[in-house]
Parts: sequence; C-alpha cells; structure tokens
Amino acid sequence: APYETLLVETRGAVGLITLNRPKALNALNARLIEELALAFEAFEADDAVGAVVVTGSEKAFAAGADIKEMAEKTYAEAFLEDFGAGWRRITSCRKPSIAAVAGYALGGGCELAMMCDVIFAADTAKFGQPEITLAIIPGFGGTQRLTRAVGKAKAMDLILTGRMMDATEAERAGLVARVVAPERLVDEAVEAAAKIASFSRVAVLAAKEAVNVAQEASLAEGVRFERRAFQALFATDDQTEGMAAFVEKRKPAFKNR
Ligand code: HXC
Repeated sequence: APYETLLVETRGAVGLITLNRPKALNALNARLIEELALAFEAFEADDAVGAVVVTGSEKAFAAGADIKEMAEKTYAEAFLEDFGAGWRRITSCRKPSIAAVAGYALGGGCELAMMCDVIFAADTAKFGQPEITLAIIPGFGGTQRLTRAVGKAKAMDLILTGRMMDATEAERAGLVARVVAPERLVDEAVEAAAKIASFSRVAVLAAKEAVNVAQEASLAEGVRFERRAFQALFATDDQTEGMAAFVEKRKPAFKNR
C-alpha cells in the first residue's frame, strides 16, 4: 500500500484522511508526516476533490510528535533535517480542510488540527500543548496558532502548564467551531466539507485566502485585500450563474470558472 500510516479515501467531492497508527495513539512520526503531506498534495491536485477532512481514532486524533523518534535527536539533526518540514506542504494547500477531532489532540496533534482551516470536536476531545513537560516547546506552530485562536491568556496557561482543555472549553475559547456527539463527528465534518465542495471553487479558495490574510495583515491591509478579491469574483461565470439562479429561484450549476 502507498500509505502505511494513513487511510485515504474520497467520499464524493471530499478527501478523507484518517490517521492510522492506533497503537501509538497516532503519534506523528516522520513517515506519517511525509504521508500526510503526500495525501494533502494528491487531494490538492485532484479536480474532483473540493475539500479535505482529517481525522484520527475515537481515542486519539493524535497524541503528538513521536516522542520515541525524537528522543535521541541532537540540535544539529533537528536543525539540518528541519524536523517536520513536511508541515509546510500541508499549510500551503489552498483547498479548505476540516480537522475532526475525537480524544487526544496533544502537542503536534493539536498543532495539526490548528493547521486545518476549521476544527470540529467530539465531546470526548482533549486539546493541549504538553511539550513543556518534556522540556521542549511546541514546534509545529503551536505557540503562534494557539495564541491567535484563543488569545494570550489561555495560550500561556495551556503552553506553560501543559494542561489539557476539553471540547467545551475549546469551543468557548474559539479554537473549535462545533462540538458534536462522537458518533456524528466524521459524518458532520464530511457533510460540511461536501457543502463547501458544492460551491464555486474560485469563491471558496478566495474566501479561505482572505480569512487567512486576517491572521497576518493590519485591518486596513486585510480589508483592501478582501475588496480586490471580492471585486475579482465578478469576473467569474460562477458569480453570474449564482446570482441568476437566485433570481430565477433555481439551484446554481457552478463550473469553477
Ligand atoms: C510516541 C506515544 C505518544 C507520543 C502515546 N504514545 N503518545 N508514542 N509519541 N507522542 C504511545 C505510548 O508510548 C504507548 O505505547 C501507547 O501510545 C499508548 O499510550 P499510553 O500512554 O499507554 O496511553 P494512556 O495511558 O491512555 O495515555 C494517553 C496520553 C499519553 C495521555 C495521550 O499517551 C501521553 O501523554 N502521550 C504523550 C503526549 C505528549 O506529550 N505529546 C506531545 C509530544 S511533543 P506503548 O508501546 O507503551 O504501548 C510534540 C512536539 C511537536 O508533539 C512539535 C515537534 C516539531
């Protein structure tokens, strides 16, 4: 099989990636990170796929980077191999992604969920950045993305104490978009991804890009970016179709152009 650590399938226009190292609670080793990057790139290149869902098992989304693999590393090794460089190939994907989290999302597992555009959580989910307990700090973006998601107070609390927060707290804090029953988690995420995939892909990618600008830019700069992107969508056939369909009270047929 091309993938040893993942199950990769499509459900209609949705690409579904299931982390699959159950014995290690889906700890993210080098192989898994490489396979995850490949799976994202394959869905990115597949015109039939409009959005991606990443999930784990009932017990763990992912319990972090593989501690057994990291344990013996020297600074020079971590630096030269740019440990975890595969993450950039995930965050550079332009199609939207939803993390469907049940059980533990710790360390790199929490960071992986935060690299996705939206997080849905089962009420069993537990989020945390316990790196401090290992005498390291988050290394896949946790200090930055968690702080942007939940603010400095809670990010400091979680990262400095290493404690976990449950799904309710994570939703209240703004990390999680929806909390659902565990048995509904993957279906709910796939349904939302299918809905996203049913819209004009041009508009969807523009919307994701514009929201992401808000993470980086000043308000004035971000609003300027949004206006240009908004205006540009009036050049698409899909905009003409979408508005005509509304006026004519029928379903639009988008062609992604
Ligand atoms: C390697 C792991 C692992 C991990 C769990 N396992 N987490 N192996 N790396 N991150 C393995 C255990 O060693 C064990 O293997 C099996 O999975 C089951 O785990 P248990 O600990 O027995 O399960 P349980 O008692 O239910 O406890 C669950 C847990 C605990 C609370 C999630 O496993 C845990 O604390 N894991 C580590 C969490 C963590 O510190 N993550 C951050 C890693 S650092 P055996 O063979 O004994 O059965 C990180 C840095 C990211 O992520 C940035 C890098 C650039």
